[in-house]
This record gives sequence, structure tokens and C-alpha cells, in this order.
Amino acid sequence: SPSDPDLVERARAAKEKLGEKVFVLGHHYQRDEVIQFADVTGDSFKLARDAAARPEAEYIVFCGVHFMAESADILTGDDQKVVLPDLAAGCSMADMATAEQVAECWDVLTEAGIADTVVPVSYMNSSADIKAFTGRHGGTICTSSNAERALNWAFEQGEKVLFLPDQHLGRNTAVRDLGMSLEDCVVYNPHKPNGGLTAEELRAAKMILWRGHCSVHGRFSLESVEDVRARIPGVNVLVHPECKHEVVAAADHVGSTEYIIKALEAAPAGSKWAIGTELNLVRRLANRFAPEGKEIVFLDKTVCFCSTMNRIDLPHLVWTLESLAEGNLVNRIEVDKETETYAKLALERMLALP
Ligand code: 13P
Ligand code: SF4
Repeated sequence: SPSDPDLVERARAAKEKLGEKVFVLGHHYQRDEVIQFADVTGDSFKLARDAAARPEAEYIVFCGVHFMAESADILTGDDQKVVLPDLAAGCSMADMATAEQVAECWDVLTEAGIADTVVPVSYMNSSADIKAFTGRHGGTICTSSNAERALNWAFEQGEKVLFLPDQHLGRNTAVRDLGMSLEDCVVYNPHKPNGGLTAEELRAAKMILWRGHCSVHGRFSLESVEDVRARIPGVNVLVHPECKHEVVAAADHVGSTEYIIKALEAAPAGSKWAIGTELNLVRRLANRFAPEGKEIVFLDKTVCFCSTMNRIDLPHLVWTLESLAEGNLVNRIEVDKETETYAKLALERMLALP
């Protein structure tokens, strides 16, 4: 929907009043009406790095979801304030692994006698508590743009990996990039006793995948890939690694949101693409590249927004910027010191990956 001109003007005026004091980060899944006010846009890795590179900004307004704002708080200075324009912008995948469940899982691994051979690797899409758990146990964070490097690093540290919370990113990276077999992976279900696994199964596994997933990317199916290939001959299928393994296996290219954008920038005129990721981004790319003669379609027939990303809309952004401009600090995201110390350790291991 086109942005309300009055709200656009108010956002612009509040941002101008704040000047250098505010830095606005926008994830690629944000609405057009919000992304137009972002000082930088990026995938979750780039945004984490960009947030850390702005020590002079008093306020970091994070147009994205809760775990991204937490990570920005962990990586920025104590005097910098990270603000999330709508506190209800969570991530259903991140919610699939709680600190209690993960502590219980570690007990199960300990009882099976394998905990000291396991290195946790946690996807950025997790709470600060899970990141702290990861840091405490010698593990690293990863994003969809460095999961292969993170897994390679982890297998240099130990024999097995506990991958949290996205089973698909874990499986896709292990099989596609590290050449492991599907049989090397087991799925730990936090809702079943002992994760639904026997001690033998745990001992035999190389990848212990947490049973989490993204409901947005989970909608793409093998059938969506087959349909689009039948409908558009010569189409290139490009999907995010949060998609199911069978979708990733049937695709031509796989990568993070930033990767998807770069691939389309480099694509020749006349090429055709079906993209399996969130719809705000796909629509923006389709509009951007249509004049260059690149045909870009959404991989599925149904509409597929991330509802929590979409919670950040222009009215919330205007309210946030105007409040900050008036000296009212609203919606601050602040991770407690103890959690921050260990979560930072895990995030810094990621930032130092070769
Ligand atoms: P990217 O890191 O590829 O932007 O993925 C992010 C994502 O799905 C956010 O949920
Ligand atoms: Fe979470 Fe999926 Fe939304 Fe990304 S797209 S924020 S993983 S629910």
C-alpha cells in the first residue's frame, strides 16, 4: 500500500530533528513504507555488523524483529540504546527454543555421555538466552550467510554439533555444503522425553538438529518448485536456506536475503527467477528489476508475509522517531549484563569466523 504522505512527512521531520543521534537499520523483509527510512538495509549478519559500527549513534532504531534488536544491543556500547518500534515483533522460530528446554537438552546429552563432544551452533534467530547458552558451551552463532563456515569451525572444535533452533538451515548446510548425509542428522524434539531420541541415536549422530522451523519459509513445497518450472520454462529457482530440505535440493540457488539481492543484481537481462523467501522482499525486487527486463516471481501461489516483520509499519516508526525526538526513550531492548557477556562471546566467535 502507498505510504500516507502525512506520516511520511512526520517521519522525515522527526528523523531530521534527531540527526546523527539516530541510526535506523532495516531488515530486507520490512515493508517499503518503513525501508525508505532505513540508513542501511541488510540481512541479519550485515545488520549486526552495521549496528556495531555506529558507536556515535545514541539511538539505534531496529526495523526488524526482537532477536535482531537484542543482538544489536549486545554488540553496541552500554550508552547506546536499541529501540524496536513494536515490541510484539518477535519471531516464531526463535520462540521454539527456550532457555529451559535447551538446558534440559544439554542434560540429555550429558546423560548420553556425549556433551563434551558437542559444540552448539545457534542461528541468529534465537533469544539472547540461547546465545548465552551457546557462548557458555564454547559454541558460535551463525546466520544464513555464514552457516557453512560456522559448521566447519564447530567440527574443528568437537565431533558433533547441536544446531539451534532451525532444523532446516542446519540440515541444508550439513548436507549441501559439508557433504554429510541425511542419516548423519537427528532431530531433537523438545516436547518429547529425551528429545524423542535414544542414547544410541544421539551417539551415532553428527548433527543434532533442534526441532524448530520458520513458518513463512515452511510454506514452500517441492510442488511449488515443480509448478513454477512447468509454468515458466527456463526459470531459475532461488530460495532461502530456511526452506525445507526437499525444496532446497530442488532449487538452483540457495542463499541469505543479501545473497538473493546480489544474485539478482548480477543476473542478465531476460533471465527469469522464482524466489522462495518473504513477500515484501520479493515484490520489491520484482519492481526494482522489471525495467531491466528481469522477470521475478514469488515461488508460491499463496501470499506469504512474515507477520511479525510486518508489525513494524509506518505509524509505529513515526511514533518511535517522534518520541525519541521529544526525549522519550520508548521500546528499549536491553539484555541483562550476565546474559550479554556470554551471548557476546558467541556472537564475537561468529564475527571472527575465517
Ligand atoms: P537473512 O539473514 O538471510 O536476512 O535471514 C533472515 C531471516 O529469515 C530473518 O528471519
Ligand atoms: Fe522468524 Fe521466519 Fe519471520 Fe524470519 S521470516 S523473522 S525466521 S518467522
